[in-house]
Amino acid sequence: MPLNTPENLWKPEYLLDVGSMDEQHKHFFKILDVLSRVIGEAGRDIIKNAHLYSIVWEVRRYSQKHFHDEETLLQKYGYQGFSDQCSEHDKFLRYILEYINDKMKVYELVPGDAISDLNLGLMQELLEYTQQWWADHILKKDALYVDLIKSNKRVKPI
Ligand SMILES: [Fe+2]
Repeated sequence: MPLNTPENLWKPEYLLDVGSMDEQHKHFFKILDVLSRVIGEAGRDIIKNAHLYSIVWEVRRYSQKHFHDEETLLQKYGYQGFSDQCSEHDKFLRYILEYINDKMKVYELVPGDAISDLNLGLMQELLEYTQQWWADHILKKDALYVDLIKSNKRVKPI
């Protein structure tokens, strides 16, 4: 039996019934599952800074990709809350970038060194923050555009 069973941080309540967005939301939570596993394995001293670097950048990279796709979709449908969505997305991306650069200082890390206790703690905080932010955002903000997308689906399939 593996020491670390995979987490499943995505929850069915996050489903919006907007296929492309649901798939991307699921994929993002899979990245968080990996982050969670990396944190769980760090105590065994096999996790290096290189792992930390690749996973936190993937969190940011995929967030940026998803937000771009979501904004493109909302713009296409003329969603009234478009600018609110964009500003939420921008704030999140800025926060993550500052976190990675200023708190974790990933550019100063030696890739082959084991993760420090400090960065391990910061990774855990990043995981909790990101998980909570995405859950809140999907349930409180993304949920607001669902009716518009679904009502237009028949005439403007995506
Ligand atoms: Fe969004």
